[in-house]
Amino acid sequence: MTGNATLPKLTLGKIQAEAPAENPQTPADSCNPSATTSIAKALRRGRTLLDGSSDSAALDAEVLLCFVLDKQRAYLRTWPERLLQPEQQRRYQKLLQQRRAGHPVAYLTGSREFWSREFIVTPDVLIPRPETELLIERALGLLPQGQKLQVLDLGTGSGAIAVTLAAERPQWRVTATDISAAALSIARSNARHHAAANIRFHRSRWFDDLPDARYDLIVSNPPYIAPDDEHLQQGDLRFEPQTALAADRNGIADIEEIINKARRQLHPGGRLLLEHGCDQQRAVQTLLQRCRYSEIHTHTDLAGLPRVSLARWPGISC
Ligand SMILES: C[S@@+](CC[C@H](N)C(=O)[O-])C[C@H]1O[C@@H](n2cnc3c(N)ncnc32)[C@H](O)[C@@H]1O
Repeated sequence: MTGNATLPKLTLGKIQAEAPAENPQTPADSCNPSATTSIAKALRRGRTLLDGSSDSAALDAEVLLCFVLDKQRAYLRTWPERLLQPEQQRRYQKLLQQRRAGHPVAYLTGSREFWSREFIVTPDVLIPRPETELLIERALGLLPQGQKLQVLDLGTGSGAIAVTLAAERPQWRVTATDISAAALSIARSNARHHAAANIRFHRSRWFDDLPDARYDLIVSNPPYIAPDDEHLQQGDLRFEPQTALAADRNGIADIEEIINKARRQLHPGGRLLLEHGCDQQRAVQTLLQRCRYSEIHTHTDLAGLPRVSLARWPGISC
């Protein structure tokens, strides 16, 4: 699936305040002889259908029903007796079957929330993860707000990192890259949706095809899973692009290349901020030391796991 023409509608309405007071027994519902399933019943059926195939069966059923009804979750609790239209029932049933077959909820609804913004996602891009918000938190806390800083996001995927940084810091100039043209198309759409005009996009294999420029901050959430890791055959990961997930040499090859080449693209004193696996802290720190970065520090996520490493490039010759 590529290109804007095939993008699902980004249902931004779902993150807006719910319209109050709607009659649950509107004529459109109550007069329809085939509208026999209530919201409460649909949710029970959905949960039962997904039990055993999803660890979050109840939540998945709610999210999918909200998607079909174009409503927020509070609506389901407010109007449990409201009847579904036959078309809504059909769509809901189809989504439940797809979810039962393993398809990630975010690909079924076409969006995922990241740093309180909705991002369009398709199977061309990694589904943004909550762990990556740690990288955003660090990046925003690191550099002064008011300056025109140059920031590079390597492997932008949906644009979750680049668009968030650009939207949060309109003075920054963000460059977002990916090897995948399809991913860049999604990232561009997300930049438009969030009116982030301070981003440029480049298709590039890491630094290979980038214009010769220097940055104050380089961020990346690169692929870091070992190709033979059994998790790649489980859950949502089965449906996500393998190029977004797996890296050679036990998952460290892309991180190593970025650490090595970022030195030539950072201003003296510039920072490199990388997400990595929770078992890669030592390997990443060793690589940063070998490449003569300074002020190396690894940050832990809310679960206490080391997920993001930061280093400063002192500007020595390399
Ligand atoms: C783990 S995903 C991260 C996506 C997004 N930044 C996020 O955090 O949700 C890694 C991204 O790197 C891209 N990628 C993989 N290999 C690459 C390469 N050699 N050069 C540039 N991008 C690459 C993938 O297409 C994918 O979008």
